[in-house]
Amino acid sequence: MQVTSSSSKYSVKHYPDNIRKWQKEGNYFYFYTSETILEVRIISDKIVRFRYAADGKFQRDFSYATSERLEESPVNFGIREFEEVFEIYTDMIRIWIARDNLRLTITDTEGRIINQDEMGFHWQHYLQKGGKIVYCSKQIQEGECFFGLGDKPTDLNLRGKRLENYGTDAYGFQKDTDPLYRNIPFYYGLHHGIGYGIFFDNTFRTLFDFGHEREEVCSFWARGGEMNYYFIYGPALLQVAEAYTKITGTAELPPLWALGYQQCRWSYFPEKRVREIAAEFRKRQIPCDVIHLDIDYMEGFRCFTWSKEYFPDPAGLIKDLAAEGFKVVVIIDPGIKADPDYDIYKEGMEKDYFCKRADGAFMEGDVWPGKCVFPDYTDPKVRDWWSSLFKDLLDTGVRGVWNDMNEPAVFEMGTFPEDVRHDYDGEDVSHRKAHNIYGHLMSKATAAGLKKYLMPNRPFVITRSCYAGAQRWASVWTGDNVSEWDHLWLASVQCQRLSVSGISFAGSDIGGFIGEPDGELYTRWIQLATFHPLMRTHSASNETGFNQEPWSFGSKYEFIVKRFIQMRYRLLPYLYTTFWQYSHYGTPMLRPLAFVAQNDEHTYNRSHEFMLGDALLISHVEAAGMKEKEIYLPAGQWYYFFNDKLYEGGQTVTIATPLEEMPLFIKAGAVVPNYPNIQYVDEKLIDEMILNVYYSEQPTRSTLYEDAGDHYGYKNGQSNTISFKQVSDKQQFRLKKKFFGQYEAGYKKHRVLIHGLPFKATEYVVDGKVFKLNARNFAVGVVKVALERKFEELIIR
Ligand code: NOJ
Repeated sequence: MQVTSSSSKYSVKHYPDNIRKWQKEGNYFYFYTSETILEVRIISDKIVRFRYAADGKFQRDFSYATSERLEESPVNFGIREFEEVFEIYTDMIRIWIARDNLRLTITDTEGRIINQDEMGFHWQHYLQKGGKIVYCSKQIQEGECFFGLGDKPTDLNLRGKRLENYGTDAYGFQKDTDPLYRNIPFYYGLHHGIGYGIFFDNTFRTLFDFGHEREEVCSFWARGGEMNYYFIYGPALLQVAEAYTKITGTAELPPLWALGYQQCRWSYFPEKRVREIAAEFRKRQIPCDVIHLDIDYMEGFRCFTWSKEYFPDPAGLIKDLAAEGFKVVVIIDPGIKADPDYDIYKEGMEKDYFCKRADGAFMEGDVWPGKCVFPDYTDPKVRDWWSSLFKDLLDTGVRGVWNDMNEPAVFEMGTFPEDVRHDYDGEDVSHRKAHNIYGHLMSKATAAGLKKYLMPNRPFVITRSCYAGAQRWASVWTGDNVSEWDHLWLASVQCQRLSVSGISFAGSDIGGFIGEPDGELYTRWIQLATFHPLMRTHSASNETGFNQEPWSFGSKYEFIVKRFIQMRYRLLPYLYTTFWQYSHYGTPMLRPLAFVAQNDEHTYNRSHEFMLGDALLISHVEAAGMKEKEIYLPAGQWYYFFNDKLYEGGQTVTIATPLEEMPLFIKAGAVVPNYPNIQYVDEKLIDEMILNVYYSEQPTRSTLYEDAGDHYGYKNGQSNTISFKQVSDKQQFRLKKKFFGQYEAGYKKHRVLIHGLPFKATEYVVDGKVFKLNARNFAVGVVKVALERKFEELIIR
């Protein structure tokens, strides 16, 4: 072991010395220095895992992030020995390992550097706490940008920043507040058009420095555990995102209603108020699917109870709401009131399920109910118990659960002290190692309970804290934001960043949680959130009495807000298809511009525009009274949604921003499927699927995915993927459709609306049959035709 300074070996960083021997076992390679070992595991031709045992022996190979379904598929790989290096190769990359010091250089097959170590693997004794601080440092390549890391409320490109993961109850966070609630130690690098990712699977406090301390060095480290990271080669950033979800798992399809509009407040109570809110939505014909009940539905904030005073008959209430098309989601926190008369507390005490301090006292702290104890979700027995607790709530009719305060948050203390002990699935560790997965495992246990007792319905869980991989069971919201204009941008970057960090199913508290938005801010927020996978208004107006519902700001705003919520419902088939792409391939639903056009440097620092799925490009209106906004459009052609005006991409365009509109563009060539207007997802049988097709001379493919929107029939083939290909020219529009699947959708008809035809059309041809177009087929700017669902080809000329 080399010691680089003359000071005590305990206070310096240690670096590997030269490789003494190596060994191959299947797709694992081991390189031994005098005291340490590097393990290189080839997972696929683009994914490689590196583990470095600074102690000379590896720790337990265990992860709460990785999916059980991670399959190894190393098609073709091998090793070559050279005088100074070893070369491990796959069909896509080469990994050069220096004999002197284990430093890595990873290139593509043409020798272009993707990623290169600076000092590479190194470590330091952690004198105060025990164990080691494990580091890895990399050289920053020319022009390199960095993305990822979960919910950080900062510029999308992380170059120049240092950030930390240690889940925190960040009430009223602002730009650059760090850390926030979630812990996602995964980032992307992009340089010379080459994208890659690094997922550092370590649950201790992790830090990432992207050239903040030393301009040309990117490093990441953890205050304990092992240097254990997955390297993922793209080169496309979206491919990296997809591979990352191969490692950490994909989201299951949610019930369709969870993509509808959701209304929340801290808190709606008593029951009469909840009924009023529901009635108001239906009276005003503002679509809504979900009403959330925050902590006041409980008896003295005891989880899994109902306030007898405010909710004397929860089953009756939920049944009545269901008849009106509403689902009820309730909040559940981890803090269990320390009350000897409370069943759950008693049972947890009897079974020894609550967390304890180092010397055996219970981990006690105040949260909403006063003094609480906290389940140790890192113990599989406790997770099973927790899952079982949901049975009664679900029997009462509850359809979704919202997990809050699970960083974990404790009043006065902030969070648990580090000495608290956790089972960690049989490992027995301190809170230092378990902190970042506490909320993760709470939401996992919650989702398991919902899945079990709601079967055959699909579960819906929202969590505030989590670790990498939580997309397998939960959605998230961005936390306690503020009713300020800046927070629109924050919501936008947070949702984009979460999306490329594996967690697409995210949204912000619309209108802001803390404070009171005016009608204009609320309207602009609704507009942005129309395009966020989770669309929920929430506010902390319990004490002020301030109302934050779509109609709270007067008819002028209500009218526009309603139009956007309606647009959300019309877009549901598009949104659901985009969710399916995410669920099936791991493709992020929200895509920052750099992920859409990574060869275009203009996109690298853009954070205001993003794409939802393959076809929609969106930006928010960020200030009061803003009259216009400059939008960067990537290469291609784009239709401005509100008037079908066509713009050339690869440039910045200026868009007027009257309150009824927002920057919203459709990619030329796309087919955007729409529902007719509905009040909630199960309101009625959808009798036609509208297809908005945007003319393009470039051949373009689009997809529509459909299934029952709930249950699991889709896992047994009860789903359809319908692919569209537009191949048009200057005289003729042509759309081909191919249908795969066995799902019997209710609708029999398509209404096809063709936008942007550059010629005067006189006839249309459906599967070879010619029809004349007449006045009824023309509306402002569009040609519309009604077709049988089964049509295979439509030509307009
Ligand atoms: C904190 C959460 O972030 C917020 O959304 C919730 O309303 C309050 N806790 C009360 O439960």
